[in-house]
Amino acid sequence: MTLQVTGLHVGYATAQVLHGVDFTIGAAESVALLGRNGMGKTTLVRAICGLRPPTVSAGSITYDGAELTKMPVHRISRAGIALVPQGRRVFGSLTTLENLTVVPRRRSAPDGQAWTVERVFEFFPRLAERSGSMARSLSGGEQQMLAIGRALMTNPSLLIMDEPSEGLAPSVLDVIQDRLEGLRASGLSILIAEQNVDLALDIAERVIVIDDSGTIAWSGTSEQLRADDVLLERHLSI
Ligand SMILES: Nc1ncnc2c1ncn2[C@@H]1O[C@H](COP(=O)(O)OP(=O)(O)OP(=O)(O)O)[C@@H](O)[C@H]1O
Ligand SMILES: [Mg+2]
Repeated sequence: MTLQVTGLHVGYATAQVLHGVDFTIGAAESVALLGRNGMGKTTLVRAICGLRPPTVSAGSITYDGAELTKMPVHRISRAGIALVPQGRRVFGSLTTLENLTVVPRRRSAPDGQAWTVERVFEFFPRLAERSGSMARSLSGGEQQMLAIGRALMTNPSLLIMDEPSEGLAPSVLDVIQDRLEGLRASGLSILIAEQNVDLALDIAERVIVIDDSGTIAWSGTSEQLRADDVLLERHLSI
């Protein structure tokens, strides 16, 4: 699988946000998408997944050579891209189990091992305990597990997560981080947008940073960024 973003311009009726974004994600690669508040991380991941708004005004997004910018959301999902949206967005009035079974699924998984409810429950045992509970009654951490489990149920080859650590207690954060490292080790390709730079750098081997120019202001390895205080300060105010 290869995701290739080229010269991408994306914005809203009121403002253009991205002004020519270029990057590639290859098979089994995990990439962190970093940038301060409001730089356009969510705008970028929504554009990749075909969610509107925003609107793509120029450039291309291809997935294994197929152009995504004119594809409807369900076909992008069927092509193998799954999104864990910012703010989790689980279906509050459905149970945990229903949230997992309501999603349209691809027949095959990239590694030949399709995700099932049983496998998600093994992956997040806490969800098995909450199987019959309305999703709105779950804790923030449980909802995040459910949002990730729901995305995995589509059998993605690229998992995109938008701020999965947002608002989570440290103990839950450890569980999520451990599970995400497991997913990366399994060879799933990952794009993770995060404010929590430590978490993102632990999960991803490569980093792209967007800044207020609306372009990729820096890209390199996680190790490079971690070691460079000037870069961290300039792009992320750390
Ligand atoms: N629906 C919308 N309509 C108009 N402008 C929007 C909309 N959503 C976001 N924006 C603007 O687009 C810019 C980028 O927002 P975006 O949510 O992509 O940033 P972000 O990097 O994800 O930020 P955060 O770290 O807070 O999640 C911001 O200036 C924001 O105000
Ligand atoms: Mg965002």
